[in-house]
Parts: sequence; structure tokens; C-alpha cells
Amino acid sequence: MTEQTVNTKLADYYLTRSEITATTILDQLAVNGLVIIPKYAVEQESFSTLLDSLATCYLDSPLGDRARITGEQNVQSVSIGKHPIDFHFEWGNLPFRPELLTFCCVEPPVQGGETILCDSNQVLHSLSSRSMKVLENNSLKYTDTLPSWIIDYYANKENLQRYFHGDFLKYLKSMDNYHIDDSNEDFIKTEYVTSAINTSHFSSLPVIGGNVLSSIYSDKGGQDSYASRIQFADNSIIPQFVLDEIKVAMDKHKLEVSWQKGDVVFIDNTRFLHGRNKIEDAKRSILLASVYTKASA
Ligand SMILES: [Fe+2]
Repeated sequence: MTEQTVNTKLADYYLTRSEITATTILDQLAVNGLVIIPKYAVEQESFSTLLDSLATCYLDSPLGDRARITGEQNVQSVSIGKHPIDFHFEWGNLPFRPELLTFCCVEPPVQGGETILCDSNQVLHSLSSRSMKVLENNSLKYTDTLPSWIIDYYANKENLQRYFHGDFLKYLKSMDNYHIDDSNEDFIKTEYVTSAINTSHFSSLPVIGGNVLSSIYSDKGGQDSYASRIQFADNSIIPQFVLDEIKVAMDKHKLEVSWQKGDVVFIDNTRFLHGRNKIEDAKRSILLASVYTKASA
């Protein structure tokens, strides 16, 4: 894809400063699934103010794979390290995935480190009927083993308790498609099953139901995180021809954001996948927040 094509495609998702309200952002997310506001938040404060107009609750990561931003509880850096990261949904292996993901560029890289984006609705449209049938007839299953302190961390978060109306852990244990085994003191085992094709939170369009590329859990570049095993609910693996078609389609519909200072990006995290190219410039600084919106509270 030429630079010209990429820029033209990205411009389809631009909102200008004068158009920005919580309503215009949510309206565009419903239509396009992606909003880009070039050079909006040169000060971090304006990013936080814009976020607060949309958010009812934030979900942060307790893992050491993200740097915490001083004074900002809800905003973290994107995943640290320099390795490229394949397409995924943020929290795309868990049943409490926030529907809105936002990025803000504090310090653009001189080169490399583009954030890559891809509309999973368009990916589905590019698949053969054979692959679509496989996805339609199967559910995805994620199996994780996590240190117990992680579940304690979330169980004790007041904002989550408010958002989920009470005990967050109890809420998770009540879900039909999520199983938590916390019989061991040190580790919990979780199993989450969800349709391989789902509907977008903001638009109800068909989308990929969760993370499908296992590389995002294995190519960690040595950072602190935990692997998730991805398979179908009947314990079969996702057929290679389906994964190959998905990867080709992701590449076909890939958008690349070459960051400029103050750029803000909003993503329907149930529809658009994201990742990044290899980081070439260590000064690159991108903030991230995972958001449950007011509209869905
Ligand atoms: Fe991510």
C-alpha cells in the first residue's frame, strides 16, 4: 500500500477540532468504528478532559507491560518494549472488554512505531464462504492461568464495583460463558467462551468475536504478561486456512497511523483491531485508555 493510499484512507476517519463533542464521536463510532482527531491534545489535560466526557469507568492493566502515567489513574502508556504487535482487540480474550479504546500521542517517533488498525467487519467481508461457515459454526475459547493477585486487584477496584453493580468477582462468576477456578491460592484458571462472529457494540455490524492470532500472546519481547490459549469451544484448533485468510484480509484492510504530537484516536474496541509496527525510536510516547462509555452505563 502506498503512503498516498494510506493517508487518503485515514482521512475518511478524521474529525476536526470544531466538530468534537461526545455525541459526534459516538455518532462516528457507530458509523465508521474509528475516529481520528489530528493534533488535538497537545496538552495531556485536554486528552483527559475529552475522555471524561465519554467515560463512565476505565479499565487499567496491573501488569508490568505498561508504564503508569504520573497523576493519571486511568491513562497508561501503550505496551512497552520495541517488538511489533499483531492485530488484536484490547482485552480481547476476556468477557469484560471495554468497548472504547483511545490513544493519544505525547511524543511521536522520528520513524517506525506506527499503530496499525483494521476493521474486522471488512475482514469478515473478505473471507471465503468456507471460512465464514467455520467461524459461524464455532465459538472461541480462551484458557488462561493467572496469578491470584490479579483477580484480587480487580475485585478490589471501587470503580469496577460501581460499574458492575456490586462485587466484580461475583459478577464474573455468575457469567454462563466464563469459568473461574480459584481453588488454588497462588493461581487462578479461567475459561471464556464467545461466538467467533459477534456484533459491534456501537453499530451492531458483524465483527470478529475476539482475539484470534496467538502471536499476540507468544511474541511478547520478554515483557511481563500472561499467555492465553486460543482454540474453538470443542477444543479443536482454528483451522490454518481460516487463519491464513484472516491474516491476508487484515493486511488488505490495514491502516497505519504515523503519529504526530497531539493526535487522538478513538476505536470501537469490539470492531477495530489494533497493533503496532516495530518501534525504531525509543522516544515514542503514546498514551492509552480502555473505556466503558456513558452511553452503555
Ligand atoms: Fe493493545
